[in-house]
Amino acid sequence: MKIAISGKGGVGKTTIMALLANQFKKEGKEVLIIDADPSPHMAQTLGIKDIDKIKPIAEMTALLVERSGKVEGSPFYQINPQVDDLLKKFMIEQDGIRLMVLGAIQTAEGGCACPENTVLKRMLTKLLLTPTQVVLLDMEAGVEHLGRGTIAGVDHLLIVVIPSKSSVRTALKIKKMAVDSGIPSISFVGNLVQDKDDEDFLKKALGESPVAFFPDSTIIRKAERNGKPLTELTEEISDAPVKLVNFVQEKREG
Ligand SMILES: Nc1ncnc2c1ncn2[C@@H]1O[C@H](COP(=O)(O)OP(=O)(O)OP(=O)(O)O)[C@@H](O)[C@H]1O
Ligand SMILES: [Mg+2]
Repeated sequence: MKIAISGKGGVGKTTIMALLANQFKKEGKEVLIIDADPSPHMAQTLGIKDIDKIKPIAEMTALLVERSGKVEGSPFYQINPQVDDLLKKFMIEQDGIRLMVLGAIQTAEGGCACPENTVLKRMLTKLLLTPTQVVLLDMEAGVEHLGRGTIAGVDHLLIVVIPSKSSVRTALKIKKMAVDSGIPSISFVGNLVQDKDDEDFLKKALGESPVAFFPDSTIIRKAERNGKPLTELTEEISDAPVKLVNFVQEKREG
């Protein structure tokens, strides 16, 4: 199963992905997280110790070119489909959760992430997963990445939304673009929800209910401030991670 997460800046995408990864792991799944944000933050959130050892996929494009050769005069790469061994080099594993970071090539022109996104797109469409494997894709904020079609190969898109008008506006825009790009399952996930009023606001403004509501949590806030990985929390934040995992699994079976 391949799941991507999207939403306005700062609404809690990375936090919810980390909690989701943890819940999948608890349920015996093999989890691979791909951090596709050009300002990656997932490694910190997960408390990965060897952050410096992570090679961004941006470097893989160079390796892939080396292996398969760039087509003269063409911006497209002939990527050898045999990339399994390469993939391993770009993964770091800690406490049973694997992470890959997309990274970004910085150029004077402003750093187009096109080659990395091409690799990511191919990886997502080519990766054949067993039923116990889950790929979680943490995306950059906003709608731009949807225009690139990078996540066309995912099974589910989760759109994180907080109880504010601007967050809802972005969420609805993302949903529209995701529908147009043919993603088979698209759902909203509420975050920073304090009470029933917040839940009702989201249901009404979105025209449908989010599939899970994550509370505004002192535990999460303290963990972030103390640099404590979300995967090491002993207290349960709420039943939202369980609900969300059940939801995507039922979708898959149904
Ligand atoms: N449910 C929550 N309760 C309390 N704090 C939260 C919650 N969700 C997220 N936060 C905090 O909000 C901040 C932003 O969260 P996060 O980095 O997950 O957002 P993001 O959408 O991934 O941001 P970006 O768009 O920059 O990638 C972090 O400090 C995080 O700890
Ligand atoms: Mg993030």
